[in-house]
Amino acid sequence: MKVNGSPTRTIWPAADGRSVEIIDQTKLPFEFETVSLETVTEAAHAIYDMLVRGAPLIGATAAYGMALAMKADPSDANIQRAYKTLFEARPTAVNLRWAIDDLKQTLSPLNPEDRFDAAWARAAEICDEDVAMCSAIGDHGKELIQVAYEKAGRSRPVNVLTHCNAGWLATVDWGTAIAPIYKAFDAGIPIHVWVDETRPRNQGASLTAWELHQHGVPHTVIADNAGGHLMQHGKVDLCIVGTDRTTRTGDVCNKIGTYLKALAAHDNKVPFYVALPGPTIDWTMTDGYKIPIEERDGNEVTNMRGLTAGGEVVDVRIVSVGSKAVNPAFDVTPAHLVTKLITERGVCEASEEGLRSLYPEHKEAWK
Ligand code: MRU
Repeated sequence: MKVNGSPTRTIWPAADGRSVEIIDQTKLPFEFETVSLETVTEAAHAIYDMLVRGAPLIGATAAYGMALAMKADPSDANIQRAYKTLFEARPTAVNLRWAIDDLKQTLSPLNPEDRFDAAWARAAEICDEDVAMCSAIGDHGKELIQVAYEKAGRSRPVNVLTHCNAGWLATVDWGTAIAPIYKAFDAGIPIHVWVDETRPRNQGASLTAWELHQHGVPHTVIADNAGGHLMQHGKVDLCIVGTDRTTRTGDVCNKIGTYLKALAAHDNKVPFYVALPGPTIDWTMTDGYKIPIEERDGNEVTNMRGLTAGGEVVDVRIVSVGSKAVNPAFDVTPAHLVTKLITERGVCEASEEGLRSLYPEHKEAWK
């Protein structure tokens, strides 16, 4: 997508061919800064500290992290060490495990002197594959937005509600949940997006709103608690969210608060779609409640970052001094609350049968 008119990805190899550039997403929306990653430790910190975030981008960064490890030391022991360092960076998004498993399998049979080049090439391929998958998700999801537009008699913009940031910033490009919105907007379908602010880290207010603004898509930021009310009053035609891990039975783990939106959508008969690429499906899991849920520091709840009238970015405490906070970062929406899954291969039911129809090659999961 474009930043100030220039095509930009969220991660790209530096010109030296030995380091990786990322956008520091902790600085958005007030500053646009890029950071160079030179070691696997820096890649793991970028994931843990959320300079990069969003399941597909976490996977892409982890793939480059394995490559950076091979640059320093291409031994078998270092493949294991790098795998462990990256695996422990964040627990919920399964794309991380998918990417480092892929790199480990690619690298292990090779001679050590060939490993860096192979890892670098495979990481670049993973990024390109992610872009292609997200673009295809956009094409399939656009059809659902078109249906909503026809249902409204082509008389007004389609109102889509989204939670967290599942836009291009959460992937290498295009996004998952937001890709259909970009494709619909680019195709001339009138559209308006309700953007959940997404406390505690405000990925909706800080990131989704920023990227929609960059692309010129009409949108309005709402407090997390407003979605149910808007649905009761017919102001939401459909919801589209992303996911960090979806079980092979269709249970969806996503940013904390997603479940409440799914409940409200169900109660108001608003379609609730989840957009995801294949690497976000955990073929080993059948019970969403067993997905590891990241617990982050309570200071993300007690404090907020913002821009003062004087133009300074500051961090302020908003919770009474002496009160503590807990911070589960994700929740699980059971499959029965999900209207459909939108994947790069098409749209399916959020169920074992639905996923099997699109991914028959995962035979080990269908025994
Ligand atoms: O904690 P984050 O910002 O990494 O959480 C991101 C989300 O929950 C996204 O909705 C999810 O990763 C899907 S991204 C395409």
